[in-house]
Amino acid sequence: SAIALGMIIFAYLCGSISSAILVCRLAGLPDPRQNGSGNPGATNVLRIGGKGAAIAVLLFDVFKGMLPVWLAYALGVSPVYLGLTAIAACLGHIYPVFFRFKGGKGVATAFGAIAPIGWDLTGLVSGTWLLTVLLSGYSSLGAIVSALIAPFYVWWFKPQFTFPVAMLSCLILLRHHDNIQRLWRGQETRLWKRKKKKS
Ligand code: G3P
Repeated sequence: SAIALGMIIFAYLCGSISSAILVCRLAGLPDPRQNGSGNPGATNVLRIGGKGAAIAVLLFDVFKGMLPVWLAYALGVSPVYLGLTAIAACLGHIYPVFFRFKGGKGVATAFGAIAPIGWDLTGLVSGTWLLTVLLSGYSSLGAIVSALIAPFYVWWFKPQFTFPVAMLSCLILLRHHDNIQRLWRGQETRLWKRKKKKS
């Protein structure tokens, strides 16, 4: 329908608003595309600009994924098109029309886009991310593990959304190609320095 199509376009435009680039610009911080990992996302803004800027980016990127899906749901859009709306928001973040189609990895935006499915799922996915990050120190590993496991959580809770969530997971995993190589080689950057073990 026209509403469903309009929501998909709206989601893509919302996703295209790269808050990492905008927050860094507004705060007078270096461009996240040219510094740290080169990724315009909350993790890299944490490296470049610290906690405040990173939290602002995280909240905005989650919100821009959540808003279009919520709106589409409120307007009575069918599950298939809700899934496409979620995917469109993430594609906007990854390939932003406002920033020469060079965007981020879609983790926060995908998390926001699946949040309307339910609090049980949101809790499990964020818990998985947090636990992995706390245990390993790697933000990217949190995203990779969460992306691998999220389709199974959804399959259990709301099977009708398994396919779109699996698509989001595939997008995220593909975008973590470099991170996977760095993790494999032991060259990935941790969020914090490890305490030296006393011998
Ligand atoms: O959300 C992106 C995160 O998983 C990895 O970011 O900057 O470490 O490549 P980065």
